[in-house]
Amino acid sequence: MVVGAEPNYDESKVPAYTLPDPLVCEDGTPVRDRRVWEKRRRPELLWLFEEHVYGRAPTAAPGMWFEVVESDGTALGGRAIRRQVTIWLRGDRVGPRMDLLMYLPRERGRRVPVFLGLNFMGNHTVHPDPGIRITEQWVPADRAGTVVSNRATAAGRGTMASRWPVERILARGYGLVTAYCGDLEPDFPEGWKLGVRAALSPDGTNHVFRLDEWGAVAAWAWGLSRAMDYLEIDRGVDAKRVVLIGHSRLGKAALWAGARDRRFAVVISNESGEGGAALTRRRFGERIADLNRRFPHWFCGRYKEYDDREDALPVDAHELIALMAPRPVYIGSASEDLWADPRGEFLAGLHAEPVYRLYGRTGLGVTEMPAVGQWVGRYIGYHLRPGRHELTAWDWERYLDFVDRHLGGR
Ligand code: GCU
Repeated sequence: MVVGAEPNYDESKVPAYTLPDPLVCEDGTPVRDRRVWEKRRRPELLWLFEEHVYGRAPTAAPGMWFEVVESDGTALGGRAIRRQVTIWLRGDRVGPRMDLLMYLPRERGRRVPVFLGLNFMGNHTVHPDPGIRITEQWVPADRAGTVVSNRATAAGRGTMASRWPVERILARGYGLVTAYCGDLEPDFPEGWKLGVRAALSPDGTNHVFRLDEWGAVAAWAWGLSRAMDYLEIDRGVDAKRVVLIGHSRLGKAALWAGARDRRFAVVISNESGEGGAALTRRRFGERIADLNRRFPHWFCGRYKEYDDREDALPVDAHELIALMAPRPVYIGSASEDLWADPRGEFLAGLHAEPVYRLYGRTGLGVTEMPAVGQWVGRYIGYHLRPGRHELTAWDWERYLDFVDRHLGGR
């Protein structure tokens, strides 16, 4: 592929390809049961994704300090509990921190299931609620001009609210927990210097990169697991029913977090595309070379060896989906979001199915991609929403229904 070449959006130009078999170990041993999958193949695939795609992150934080900054039982006109919790990620109170914003339905004496997802622009953009603290981290400039010299301002309150239907989530009996991805790593090539990668590295910003160095996606995913560390001790949350959700680049992070950390009960990828749910070997829409060129900080160094060499990558997206098994996973696509390759996302779900079958579970339950506006799936959900690359109320309704079916709703 010529760098900067036009993406392919023509199905007839998708080349023939052979996917790696999730049920064959690297030494050729077939995986016939759950035991071999869990003891051998699953760890092997995690290792391959670390080594070649996302890079190797620490398994835990060197120390953590949870500071409940606020807990207000009268938020959103008395309908919700709002909690804001700072997670100090190094155990001291000067190092990197992640600020959680939580809304829980006001229901006495009951731990609630929650959705957990990172946001792109700061917690205050998720809802106009004036009680939300404004991040002091670096934030990207926005079109509305609410960001001044990469600092968030109060003008940004609620600007991303359409992606986070808080009242609807609460009405359905769930809580919402979110944090700004930039608390872990601001999203630009040098952003690692301001995030956990530098802060947790012994040589800080003089850091020398290894080929399997964690990238920003892995840093975001790591942060989701640290949020889970806190949720396990929050008395309002049912930590056995935490649903991960992420849109686009943060959907890539949600999938990687869900693969690594089995405490997450359900994982939802909204239009995560290349480097997420889309099969890379289809070379449809965005490709590895596009990611590496435009976002060199997202993946590990070795991933750069796969520009225009998709067939050499030892894994593909169906194996990332399979790492969720036997837990429910949902892949949301949008019909006009060809850059993220909706069909490639569907096919990743389809080819993850054999691993679900080891557990006696049906994945998608169909072999044909649903029509625009339709959805399918048992343990692997899939929909094709009409429209563009976004996370919308329509997507949320599908996710809420799917999660109700698996986690029992109220
Ligand atoms: C870009 C990028 C995608 C990514 C998306 C997003 O389009 O190429 O890989 O998913 O941004 O995060 O919105």
